[in-house]
Amino acid sequence: MKIIKVKNYDEMSEEALKIILDVVRSKPDAVLGLATGSTPLGLYAKMAQDHKENGTSYAKCRTVNLDEYVGLDISSDQSYVYFMRENLFKNIDIKLENTHIENGKADDKEAECARYNALLNELKQDVQVLGIGSNGHIAFNEPGTPFDSVTHIVDLAESTIKDNSRLFNSIDEVPRQAFTMGLSNIMNAKKIIILANGEGKAYAIGELVNGEIREEVPATILRNHPDCILICDELAGKYI
Ligand code: PGA
Repeated sequence: MKIIKVKNYDEMSEEALKIILDVVRSKPDAVLGLATGSTPLGLYAKMAQDHKENGTSYAKCRTVNLDEYVGLDISSDQSYVYFMRENLFKNIDIKLENTHIENGKADDKEAECARYNALLNELKQDVQVLGIGSNGHIAFNEPGTPFDSVTHIVDLAESTIKDNSRLFNSIDEVPRQAFTMGLSNIMNAKKIIILANGEGKAYAIGELVNGEIREEVPATILRNHPDCILICDELAGKYI
């Protein structure tokens, strides 16, 4: 795993932007694996700014997102599909029909997982952007998730519900389940960028870099990937 330690959030986002632009410029129809959460917001703002100023085009790109809350869809501003449209897609020239995410409102959840897995087998990510949970989760693969997992439904860990409650009116509104890409779907990406900022991520980043590779800390699987880049700020990287 390559490690890029930077001073702050802005530099982290800038380093990530450089990698995304390299991928998109060398392969205009690249498949971008995208993530939600606070961490990639700076990257998405920089992609939008670069698109406006330098005309980098995403018109031929396809995107696959990591996860979605069970029960939420575009009609909810807490859904991840809404997040992506608001924070990135409406600000670049991507075609919405080329953007993919699990359908949180699917009636048949097992069929939805199967549909998404089939899609991911077709659309192998040229680059996958990841954040990391304070407990070391990636996407919603909570501690203990098998390394060979594919898209599945998870019961969210209490720590994740608490972390994510800041984005809801109250903790009771946070969905208890989500669809998530599995760890093997993530490892299938040709290149992975994992971003982390702030002291709340220091434990997880310490384990990612120096801990034993184990299912109790799902992110540690990334050390087995041939092209994974960790970009973290000083606070998140304080144990490495
Ligand atoms: P965050 O979430 O970017 O909002 O910190 C990351 C994650 O839980 O994977």
